[in-house]
Amino acid sequence: MLVLFLNGPNLNLLGLREPEVYGRTTLADIEVRVRELAAKMGVEVEFRQSNWEGQLVDWIHDARGIFAGIVLNAGAYTHTSIALRDAIVAAGVPTVEVHLSNVHAREEFRHRSMIAPVCRGVISGFGVMSYLLGLEAAIVNGS
Ligand code: DQA
Repeated sequence: MLVLFLNGPNLNLLGLREPEVYGRTTLADIEVRVRELAAKMGVEVEFRQSNWEGQLVDWIHDARGIFAGIVLNAGAYTHTSIALRDAIVAAGVPTVEVHLSNVHAREEFRHRSMIAPVCRGVISGFGVMSYLLGLEAAIVNGS
């Protein structure tokens, strides 16, 4: 089974970026943790990051028929992107929305997600654990 991890804008700067919010863990550290868990679960993962909305849209489209699920931290596009939402619907690949921070404990503009209604569920506020829980959620079958 193959699971695709997609990371959106500014997540390449994790570790340096607002450490009081996101901690000192880098995206590379998160990838290592995800790969460790995936290996234990016997799941293969692909891990990508882009600052470009269209690139994320393309990757979601291309996941169709290849990946069993997507774990998506869309960063700020979570709150703005109808294009990502439409891509998730169009591709039809079950998608789990994840966030490192608890978006509901932050600014009001982060409380709304454009993609949550078309995702299987949302995991927010557990730091690296959000990604690990996201992997577990991505392989859960059915409702
Ligand atoms: C984030 C939360 C978003 O609101 C923010 O724009 C990010 C990171 C998170 O993982 O907590 O870039 O997705």
